[in-house]
Amino acid sequence: MMSSEPGAGTRASLRRRLWTVADSLASPRKAADYLDMFRPMRRGADLRARVMEVRDEVQDAVTVVLRPGVDWRGHLPGQYVRIGIDVDGIRRWRSYSITSTPAIPRSSEGEATLSVTAKAVPGGLVTNHLAQELQVGDLVHLDQACGTFVLPDPVPRKPLFITAGSGITPVVGMLRSGLDRLRDAVLLHSDRTPGDVLFGPELRGLAAAGKVRLIENHTDADGRLDMAAITELVPDLAERQTWACGPAGLLDAIEEHWAELGIAEQLHTERFRTARAEPGQGGTVRFGSGTEIAVDGSTALLDAGEQAGLLLPSGCRMGICFSCVLPLREGAVRDLRSGELTIASPGDGVLVQTCVSAAAGACQIDL
Ligand code: FES
Repeated sequence: MMSSEPGAGTRASLRRRLWTVADSLASPRKAADYLDMFRPMRRGADLRARVMEVRDEVQDAVTVVLRPGVDWRGHLPGQYVRIGIDVDGIRRWRSYSITSTPAIPRSSEGEATLSVTAKAVPGGLVTNHLAQELQVGDLVHLDQACGTFVLPDPVPRKPLFITAGSGITPVVGMLRSGLDRLRDAVLLHSDRTPGDVLFGPELRGLAAAGKVRLIENHTDADGRLDMAAITELVPDLAERQTWACGPAGLLDAIEEHWAELGIAEQLHTERFRTARAEPGQGGTVRFGSGTEIAVDGSTALLDAGEQAGLLLPSGCRMGICFSCVLPLREGAVRDLRSGELTIASPGDGVLVQTCVSAAAGACQIDL
């Protein structure tokens, strides 16, 4: 029997034509701009999340509970999410570990939530905005969760977590999600004092309930966590799969030690910041054919451009995702991690990661 229903191709073309008509009626804006005002988290819209709760943690840290739009695909424990916030008229993105258990994405907005925990830091524009300015009901921009610092399935028999400071954030997400599956789990956490430990009461409660063996190292009293201390505190570490997150110096030492023991493949690390080489001298940077600014040798081109009011592509801001790549037309830039120079002759278009590159003399970046 013949059907009078239009086919999928016809419906898609009809939908496109309707949007074209709606856009022309809404001109100079787009029809979607008006829809965004009423249903900002609808299917097909740019992914956003509504702030449901802002909860104080220890020190200057806050946990922000977000209800994502319906296109949120969920996350794996240990992953991070990029959050975009408009500060001073510029959208700035930063990555935060997800500390909540995975919520199942639903078909209508409002049923799944996720939380991130951020600590205010001197000069941390976005994190300080999250910690001090964000209000319940605000909207933030969101990307899908990403990252490979996750527990495998099935989980290993004897996991070891080594964390320091806010390095606990991805691990607390794993613990909250996987405790019923984890056996003989050890968490070695380092912070200045017992009162500085993020999620301290919760972690101690889990330890008291026999869910995890918690070893706290308080640097004010015990000194910095070094390899001798780790070996003494966890004598069976060579039998364990290890997840470590914390300052670069600690992670470098752990990676070196695990390699010496021949168990490097049992180690999984998550870095919040990239290690930096000695800065160079800086220079004048021209973005496109307009903005020209003097930048020192330790400021990433991405930060410098944003500070000058430019909207530049960005992602992880750690040299991982390559979202920030732009062509270097002329001049030299230095890789902030390795100190390596990239030089372009006039007219070249050498692609550079602006989040981990600084000026090394005069240079021109294409937009
Ligand atoms: S923003 Fe991810 S590599 Fe630069």
